Amino acid sequence: EKGTYAHYMLKEIDEQPLVIRNILQKYQDEANEIKLPNDIRTSFHAADRVYIIAAGTSYHAGLVGKELMEKVVGKPVEVHIASEFLYNQPLLSPNPLFIFISQSGETADCRGVLVNVKEAGHPSLTITNVPGSTLSREADHTLHTYAGPEIAVASTKAYTAQMAVLAILAMDGAHAAGSDTDFDALHELSIAANAMETLCDAKDDMEQIARDYLFETRNAFFIGRSFDYHVVQEGALKLKEISYIQAEGFAGGELKHGTIALIEEGTPVIALSTQENVDLNIRGNLQEVVARGANPCVVSMDGCHRADDQVVIPLVHAYLTPLVAVVPLQLISYYAALHRGCDVDKPRNLAKSVTVE
Ligand code: M6R
Repeated sequence: EKGTYAHYMLKEIDEQPLVIRNILQKYQDEANEIKLPNDIRTSFHAADRVYIIAAGTSYHAGLVGKELMEKVVGKPVEVHIASEFLYNQPLLSPNPLFIFISQSGETADCRGVLVNVKEAGHPSLTITNVPGSTLSREADHTLHTYAGPEIAVASTKAYTAQMAVLAILAMDGAHAAGSDTDFDALHELSIAANAMETLCDAKDDMEQIARDYLFETRNAFFIGRSFDYHVVQEGALKLKEISYIQAEGFAGGELKHGTIALIEEGTPVIALSTQENVDLNIRGNLQEVVARGANPCVVSMDGCHRADDQVVIPLVHAYLTPLVAVVPLQLISYYAALHRGCDVDKPRNLAKSVTVE
């Protein structure tokens, strides 16, 4: 039930800090060590390469999962859009592990890949919010995201929950491999949950940004680099699916290779900057569009922020910035859709779970 909330989406955005804390409880033992089924640990360790298969927002979580696993564990990961993988399978490594990420666990494109993967005898793990779902039943292993029912068509808490579980899996994988990582997923996730809460409390600011930048526009661009590039893709998907504003998320450095031609006087460009090593680069990219008339909005992280940035997110571990940085983007999309009179929870042409190919 959505209680006092006008929409499920807003309620589900607000639930995110709690969901992360819940995940931390579920995946921790009494000694505060990661608790994961042994067979999952073994499968992950045995794989020479991980193939993440997903669609939509879950695909965007997969992009972050790749960063986590490659950086924390040192294991190579490929992320594939399920519907593409299904009809154009890449070359596989000798010992692949397939990880399916799906909120509903019912996405037909993923199921198609899983059927082939099983037929070929490869191990599979589903990360889902619905443990009894098709993808969960049919895969060898399941990790539950414990986000609680997600009703709004636009996925919010399932996305952050998926990334939290991927962070835990990565840290566990690093320990199993004996690699020396100083990334403490459990500790850092609890810091991230607090930061998410701070942002959920800043709704008025996000509503004002939606009013200032997105009330009347036809299109909007999001730019980011590194981890932020993955998050802006998710931010753009959120905005387009519920507000019908044509929105795209681009890698900052790619703009000058074509997209910059679309910038006109007043075009909103939302830049995300949470990664210190590329902060100057993304700000340079923003200058390039401002010089062509863009209306810039900067979401940065404490530590690499400037005085006139529109949103400053609290400092969290560089690998977990996606969980936190997406919150303002979700809220801005929500208010943009609300102001434009759209049906926030049930956007046109979309279904909560896509069970046809
Ligand atoms: O249930 P799944 O996670 O497999 O769904 C995948 C996509 O259909 C889903 O994420 C979709 O993109 C959402 N509407 C995004 O908000």
